[in-house]
Amino acid sequence: MARRPVEASFEAAPNIALVKYWGVRDEALGLPYNSSLSVTLNRLRTRTTVRFDPKLSSDRFLLDGEAQSGGPLTSVSGFLDTVRAIARFETHALVRSTNNFQTASGLASSASGFAALAGAASLAAGLHLSPADLSRLARLGSGSASRSLFGGFVEWRAGTRSDGRDCFARPLHPPSHWPSLVDLVAIIADAPTKPVRSSVAMQRTVATSPTYAQRQRELPRRLRAMKRAIAVRDAPTLFDLTMEECDSFRNVCETTVPTLDYLVPASRAVLADVRAANEENGTTLAGYTHDAGAHVHVFTLQRHAGTLRRRLARIHGVAKVLALSPGRGARPIRRWRA
Ligand code: DP6
Repeated sequence: MARRPVEASFEAAPNIALVKYWGVRDEALGLPYNSSLSVTLNRLRTRTTVRFDPKLSSDRFLLDGEAQSGGPLTSVSGFLDTVRAIARFETHALVRSTNNFQTASGLASSASGFAALAGAASLAAGLHLSPADLSRLARLGSGSASRSLFGGFVEWRAGTRSDGRDCFARPLHPPSHWPSLVDLVAIIADAPTKPVRSSVAMQRTVATSPTYAQRQRELPRRLRAMKRAIAVRDAPTLFDLTMEECDSFRNVCETTVPTLDYLVPASRAVLADVRAANEENGTTLAGYTHDAGAHVHVFTLQRHAGTLRRRLARIHGVAKVLALSPGRGARPIRRWRA
């Protein structure tokens, strides 16, 4: 039996996948078909405080100061049920969370959100989980959250077991491994909010995209090559593989029935501009990727970042360009007021 529940706060950052997670073999346990690879980002963060309170008759969830109901409250409350089941108590909780970036916009708020929630809820429940256990727990809230527990370059191994014991993320390299790597995030003005959660959309892809099986066959080779490029800091190879993977991900989305189209014209203009910049340069100096949203991440090296950032900022429909770097993993923080 865990010790008496208290209040705890945790901070976590979003991550951007270089090899995408898209499709689960077990929906209840969130077990993916393929392993994925991501970079945890600096500057953006979610902070979450969880307080188990015997006076509450149901869970409450405040996001950026606003009381949540419906889907967001149901997911948070369902996640707390798992934590309560592990800790063996039934007390409801008040969850207060803030993002220093736009929620549900394709900047992976569910990754940082559930990583911070897993950390805060498990600590508040008196559970002292190992990093692997915390990653497995976060996975149950949102697949990509399993990776946001760790900083730098992170691999989430799909595993093969049906109980998911071997399905968790682990750090490959710390943020300091490649300090000159920059992620220029082209923030698209008026980016639409996601119509359905990725966990639902991806299963439509598995069921209907005629190219999904081919993508799955290609992934182990691409993942191996990408890990090698990161280990030796081979930027052109990493950027080429990042774009190849992004194009493959977009292809299975677009061939899903009904189609999944996350991009808007400005996003497509960013992709085209990165291709043009590489062409003009005669070598690959940048690589684009995007998740299930309209914003585009453009990886490059520090020495090209200034010029490229100005170039991307001039594209019609790009509101601003953030310059981010590999950042730290999730961690407990002292109490704070949302
Ligand atoms: C395209 O883990 O965010 O970003 O369960 O809906 O929160 P939800 O899914 P989520 O899906 C991530 C999909 C992706 C690729 C990736 O991050 O690997």
